[in-house]
Amino acid sequence: MSKEVLFEKLCINNSSYRRLRDYEQNVGSQIVDQLSNHYRFVVPTNDWIDELEIFTNRVYNKYKGTIYMKKTKNLIYLFKRSWKISKGLIFIAALKSIFFGLQPLINIVGLGIVIDSLITKLPLSDVINYILIFVGVNLAFSIIGDILDLIDVILQRKTSDVMQMEYMEDCVNINYHYVQDKSILDLKKKSMSAHPAFFLRDISKFSSYIIQFAGIVFIFSLLSVYFLIAIFITSFFNVVLVFAKRKKEFNFKNECVEDEQRIEYIFNVMTGYRFAKEIRINNAGALLKGKYHNVMKNILSKFKRFCNKLTLINTTNTIITVIQTFIMYAYFSYLVFDNKITIAEYTVLLGATALLTNILISFFDNIASINQTIKYTDLYREYKNDIKMRSGISLSNQNKKIDIDMDNYIVVFENVSFVYPNTKKIVLDNLNLEIRKGDRIGLVGLNGSGKTTLIKLLTRLYNPTKGKITLNGIDIKDIPLKQYSDYIGIVLQDFYLFAYTIKENIVFNKPFNQEKFEFSIEKSGLLNFIDSLENKEETYLYKEISKDGLELSGGNGQKLAIARVMYKDSDFLVFDEPTSSLDPIAEYDMFWQLYNIAKDKTSLFISHRLSSTKFCDKIIVLDNGKMIEYGTHEELMERKGLYHELFSIQANQYLKEGS
Ligand SMILES: Nc1ncnc2c1ncn2[C@@H]1O[C@H](COP(=O)(O)OP(=O)(O)OP(=O)(O)O)[C@@H](O)[C@H]1O
Ligand SMILES: [Mg+2]
Repeated sequence: MSKEVLFEKLCINNSSYRRLRDYEQNVGSQIVDQLSNHYRFVVPTNDWIDELEIFTNRVYNKYKGTIYMKKTKNLIYLFKRSWKISKGLIFIAALKSIFFGLQPLINIVGLGIVIDSLITKLPLSDVINYILIFVGVNLAFSIIGDILDLIDVILQRKTSDVMQMEYMEDCVNINYHYVQDKSILDLKKKSMSAHPAFFLRDISKFSSYIIQFAGIVFIFSLLSVYFLIAIFITSFFNVVLVFAKRKKEFNFKNECVEDEQRIEYIFNVMTGYRFAKEIRINNAGALLKGKYHNVMKNILSKFKRFCNKLTLINTTNTIITVIQTFIMYAYFSYLVFDNKITIAEYTVLLGATALLTNILISFFDNIASINQTIKYTDLYREYKNDIKMRSGISLSNQNKKIDIDMDNYIVVFENVSFVYPNTKKIVLDNLNLEIRKGDRIGLVGLNGSGKTTLIKLLTRLYNPTKGKITLNGIDIKDIPLKQYSDYIGIVLQDFYLFAYTIKENIVFNKPFNQEKFEFSIEKSGLLNFIDSLENKEETYLYKEISKDGLELSGGNGQKLAIARVMYKDSDFLVFDEPTSSLDPIAEYDMFWQLYNIAKDKTSLFISHRLSSTKFCDKIIVLDNGKMIEYGTHEELMERKGLYHELFSIQANQYLKEGS
């Protein structure tokens, strides 16, 4: 497919072609380039069309409707999201806006009344009464304000927890294919600034400013409407400046996203226990520090430029505000001299002016901040849309089950080819393969020949780029993931143990069955070891969670990963180098245990120790992603191909060392 045809496809559904063309100049062309580059190597597949649709959808969402329509939609979306996350937060925001809006107005008018009562020489008791009412109301407002603030802080914390959970769930649900997709990681980072709690805090401030503004307008309108109009006109400059400032902030934040990801990585590596050994052995601290300084230098130079612009904007804003204030003071003083207003009114007007100045500085800043959150909401929606479209594997048909005859099944690889995302190398090349119920298959080949990749496809971490894998004729893509993952148990080559108890690492959240548990730890060779521990299977691993956490030896870690799969008790077992860390005795024992357990099941063994895979019913030899040999050990030895060569080298090595 040519670049032009691809681009034409991209433009379908888009109402604003010209805008899309502009967009294409930037992001579009990069993606189209990537896509057409890829096409040179692989025949078009469904994944490509998916990718295309995601992109088209993104562009379409970005450009449909006017900017104001979009802003309004995002604003409504933000309210809905806030309502969904915390209704209490909206309620508190509404109360806060009323209380914080009224308090300064009450202060201004209250002071005016007290001064007026003094000037008009009311009895002292009346004056004291006014003061008491004034102070009492103020106190009540302050106490209520403090309580509202307190509830607000707690609810904000809760909101952040809900949001964090949402992001974590997204990471778990997104198809494995995209876990490290840089464009999604970037978008995720940016979208985090669309925080409903901050938005509501801004909206609450906004409403209180409106209340204060209404009060001030009322006070000033008693004087002169022209005066009011003059204030509105001069505040125009403040608006422009504040918006310019926010735009600079938004751009600066976006510019730094990549740098910040780098810093986060270096921080995690330098402070993480997992990397500590490697850093010390290789003296990698200096390298990391150097990288950190480079990124910091970059951020700092951007930050300096940003600060310079910001200072210029702030200073201009302050000068304009000071001039505005001076004019108002001068005008009011003139009115007093001219006997047009009383001293009490003068005090009220000065108070109102001070409040107005305050509002002029903060109000538009507040609007700009809301505007910024709306912009981030746009990114958040884009992120959510991407996540939704890229979580198809995990989320589709979650609770459904389809009928599969598990007593008599066949897994078939039909012309399967695979290329990792954003790479060009064909890692699996037109594989055809059948695995029947009860088969014990050995998978061997040199490093990088594609063995682990093959099981990544079998376990649906990735979809084949070309061809398909079927189970009893059903494309495994169409089997509900939960059902499918119950069916396959796998010990990964790079398995991971969690910093929780041994039991949790084996059982996870499946129902606990003592008998099954003991069987698993016995067969994996961990029974005596776990028995010797003070807290037995309740012992924590590593130190992240528990200070007494256990640091397992490499071999015991591998046994634990095997116990995990035994407890899962799936029908199809896959072992990717399951014994690479075991001592010779443990390895020998483990292989026989695994063979016995796999007797009534289907199994796939990957191992570089060919003496272990020798006993498999069938052995597949992979070379550069191609299946070059297939048969029993005896058949393959007779063929005198790669398998024969590898086996002989290993066998001779042992014989030589033994003699
Ligand atoms: N996530 C990935 N992204 C891009 N390329 C990858 C990725 N994982 C593996 N590869 C590449 O795919 C090829 C096959 O890797 P794979 O891990 O399947 O080999 P293997 O046969 O399991 O090797 P080994 O015996 O060393 O475990 C290699 O060239 C590797 O560099
Ligand atoms: Mg491997």
